[in-house]
Amino acid sequence: MKTIEDLGDLAGQRVLVRSDLNVPIKDEVIGDDGRIRASLPTLIKLAKAGAKVIVTAHLGRPKGEPNPAYTLAPVAKRLGELLQPEGITVHFATDVTGESAQEAVQELDEGEVLLLENVRYDPREESKDEAERGALADELAALADVFVSDGFGVVHRKQASVYDVARKLPHAAGGLVLAEVEVLKKLTEDPARPYVVVLGGAKVSDKLAVIDNLLAKADKLLIGGGMVFTFLKAQGHEVGKSLLEEDQLDIVRGYLKDAGDKIVLPTDIVVAPEFKGDSPATVVAADAIPADQLGLDIGPESGKAFAAEISGAKTVFWNGPMGVFEMAAFAGGTKAVAQALTEVDGLSVVGGGDSAAAVRQLGFADDAFGHISTGGGASLEYLEGKELPGLAVLEED
Ligand code: 3PG
Repeated sequence: MKTIEDLGDLAGQRVLVRSDLNVPIKDEVIGDDGRIRASLPTLIKLAKAGAKVIVTAHLGRPKGEPNPAYTLAPVAKRLGELLQPEGITVHFATDVTGESAQEAVQELDEGEVLLLENVRYDPREESKDEAERGALADELAALADVFVSDGFGVVHRKQASVYDVARKLPHAAGGLVLAEVEVLKKLTEDPARPYVVVLGGAKVSDKLAVIDNLLAKADKLLIGGGMVFTFLKAQGHEVGKSLLEEDQLDIVRGYLKDAGDKIVLPTDIVVAPEFKGDSPATVVAADAIPADQLGLDIGPESGKAFAAEISGAKTVFWNGPMGVFEMAAFAGGTKAVAQALTEVDGLSVVGGGDSAAAVRQLGFADDAFGHISTGGGASLEYLEGKELPGLAVLEED
């Protein structure tokens, strides 16, 4: 993949950057700005090189039409605050490639940044039709001279601003994409051992491909989160009112049969009668979940056992919370896993999305971990061994 340096002297050039600025926003307040911060180094590098930096990005899934609930305006504001100490001004265009975008590009000075409105306001962005996507990519390309792909969190999407536009302009991978790929390569090619993978989150069905792939590569696979109950049920235990994916039971039985020695399940569970932060919580054995209760976190004994596996490893990849960490009563398992990751003598990787938000919400500093990925789905698909269109296209001339 070409790098920004390969693009030559960028002074005065219009550089279109695809960033992943898809951050949680509630009532116009940004919850976790990790992805915005992760996108800064590339933007600063380009602005300092004298480029006119035009950023395209998405927020949420607005279904191809403008919707104020998904405007990038609060992100532009945050970007402006974060770039102000660097002396970099941030402008915002109120459309994707229309009049506002074109005028703003005209007026953009060297060393300034322009953020375009949510690219998913345009239905062509996510179209399955190559010609439709190509038409939007042409409009984006007309705004710029070169393209830098830096939104690692979206490289698994074959979308106009990620994939097609790279075919229309001289292109390079940004520093964030390069850094993410380097870490994920270490996890897939020759990981230092023991290699422990920790998977959580609600659904086993979302993680089947990654489990398949990682069971072959990892030494231990620790399972927490809502998907635990499908594993416990597959072992023949009752799981009360806990989350259960009946249609995945056969697949999970297969994993336990073929790789039971690698799979580590919790031995105790924090349960409560209701999915509520103040519902009275108790700890029960994993094989004795009462019929009127639901599991909301792994228990303290399991937290300790998981932590021991993790801190003894040389390589750890973690994706998905161990419980409902947003509620204090059910955050213990996630906290124990996060703490153990900070103690790894080797490479510790927190894989995107919920897990990244969880560690920050629980008060851990980003630099306590080897790497916090900005890509949830993208890092999982990479680890599944899939070809990611947004990376493959960067390898083309
Ligand atoms: C993410 O949040 O994983 C990325 O920004 C991609 O978003 P998407 O799943 O809506 O394509």
